[in-house]
Amino acid sequence: MIAFSQLKLRAWREDDIAPMAEIEQQAYPYPWSASILRDCLEAGHWGWVASSRGEIAAYAVVQAVLDEAHLLNVCVAPAWQGQGIGRGMLHWVMQQCAAREMQRMLLEVRASNIPALGLYRALGFQQDGVRKGYYPASGGREDAVLMSRAL
Ligand SMILES: CC(C)(COP(=O)(O)OP(=O)(O)OC[C@H]1O[C@@H](n2cnc3c(N)ncnc32)[C@H](O)[C@@H]1OP(=O)(O)O)[C@@H](O)C(=O)NCCC(=O)NCCS
Repeated sequence: MIAFSQLKLRAWREDDIAPMAEIEQQAYPYPWSASILRDCLEAGHWGWVASSRGEIAAYAVVQAVLDEAHLLNVCVAPAWQGQGIGRGMLHWVMQQCAAREMQRMLLEVRASNIPALGLYRALGFQQDGVRKGYYPASGGREDAVLMSRAL
């Protein structure tokens, strides 16, 4: 077990893309590719990584739109899950966004993603609505749950 406070936090950079793309493959049924990650970095979206001895344990990507922070991705590498790192990361990201004058955080999550829904509810996100059939899924489409909270 490791406490979130023991991880090193910093803004993301180009050499994070390859290890992040590997974690995507391990953590998601529909992972982002390296080129999606690179597009986000080059577009200037905010991103942070939390690492231990050079190994990325978690990361998050946020797109600022006016005073709203859209959480595009938050991910804990499978080997690091279930230790409070997702909670610590999201809390830290919310603090970063609040410090940059963001008023709200918005996100979309697959209706079947129970761990993520649990994390967001635990951190005070409220459900704003459902986008029917938003995501591709095995055997069809899957709903997106829209959530937000004030910062
Ligand atoms: C969602 C995710 C970020 C959670 O990270 P984590 O470090 O494992 O979560 P934490 O240990 O910090 O748990 C925080 C809270 O999340 C919820 N949670 C985490 N794992 C859960 C699980 N397997 N089932 C239900 N709730 C869960 C709980 O509310 C938990 O609080 P608690 O420990 O007090 O019960 C992680 O599972 C992950 O990276 N998943 C793959 C990527 C992903 O789906 N990202 C979200 C995209 S919208």
